[in-house]
Amino acid sequence: MRLAGATVLVTGGAGFIGSHLVDHLIERGASTVIVVDTLWLGRESNLADARARRPDLELLKEDAANMDAMRAVIERHHVDVVFNLATRPLGNSFTDPRGAYMTSVDIAVNLAELLRGGAFGRLVHYSTSEIYGDALVAPMPEDHPTRPTTPYAAGKLAADVLLQSWIELFRIPVLTIRPFNNYGPRQNDRDYGAVIPVTIRRIASGQAPILEGTGDQTRDFTFVRDTVRLTADLCETEAAWGQTLNVACAREVRIRDLIEAICREMGYTGDVEHRPARPGDHRRHLASTERARRLVSFGDLTPIDTGIAETVAWYREPRASDRI
Ligand SMILES: NC(=O)c1ccc[n+]([C@@H]2O[C@H](COP(=O)([O-])OP(=O)(O)OC[C@H]3O[C@@H](n4cnc5c(N)ncnc54)[C@H](O)[C@@H]3O)[C@@H](O)[C@H]2O)c1
Repeated sequence: MRLAGATVLVTGGAGFIGSHLVDHLIERGASTVIVVDTLWLGRESNLADARARRPDLELLKEDAANMDAMRAVIERHHVDVVFNLATRPLGNSFTDPRGAYMTSVDIAVNLAELLRGGAFGRLVHYSTSEIYGDALVAPMPEDHPTRPTTPYAAGKLAADVLLQSWIELFRIPVLTIRPFNNYGPRQNDRDYGAVIPVTIRRIASGQAPILEGTGDQTRDFTFVRDTVRLTADLCETEAAWGQTLNVACAREVRIRDLIEAICREMGYTGDVEHRPARPGDHRRHLASTERARRLVSFGDLTPIDTGIAETVAWYREPRASDRI
């Protein structure tokens, strides 16, 4: 499908990846962009760039798990494609496991039913590499066994599975993007924050960075703007529809090396605080992106040092001063 001229709705669009996706969809010429976000974790300020380009951008503070609210929004706007990114963060698994699990399931079943009933045209759904659990083989293809270790990951897997069954039975048009760890400007650096923004905030505020476990655990880090560009490219590729596709750099980074790289970038030479490994943490994550690469060109992906430099610079900007 062509994004130029399309009416698009992004759930979770005031969040980290969602707000970059909104920027990118505007760049691609989407005619109407609607964001549905409870602002549970997202921020209206994440949409400032988008609003500057598109003052008519609508941010609706609705719960995407509320079927009636979603039906009303979607039908009012004649939506062509919904990008479903709304979720509770992984860390919410420890404090509200039921909520962390159910949010993903409720939203996915609502969208599946609305799509089945013809309320909108197509669904791009965001899954996560967390559903795989620890790598049993690396690189990890899309048919890697699934062993979620948190209610967040279990809820995301349940959402993927339920959508698969609706695809099989009702032939609804769904494209599932499965990102690995993302990073970049606007990522939450407070409660539930991920390692890169939290490390930057700690160093910037004079605290030692934290290293959980041995630091030998690895992740496949992708700069957020690469993820949203590839999402849009895949969305515009007919052969991608109906598939589940890993989207990542396919490059393994040890967490201890990552923290060292952030320290280097920020000129920090102090101590690192060691803490025990987080329960449910994985030892190894590395994507196989073969399947998606057969469909679209990945082009030049942002090298980790460049991405970290841009991310650190963003957190140091005055407009983000409330974050540090
Ligand atoms: N960040 C990553 O590294 C990563 C990796 C793999 C997959 N993903 C997936 O990408 C998507 C976006 O992740 P993110 O990192 O931008 O997360 P985020 O927390 O920054 O964004 C999620 C947004 O959803 C909103 N939200 C929560 N519950 C909602 C509800 N019931 N209705 C409407 N909005 C609601 C939050 O307020 C937030 O703005 C998620 O589906 C996530 O599972 C993220």
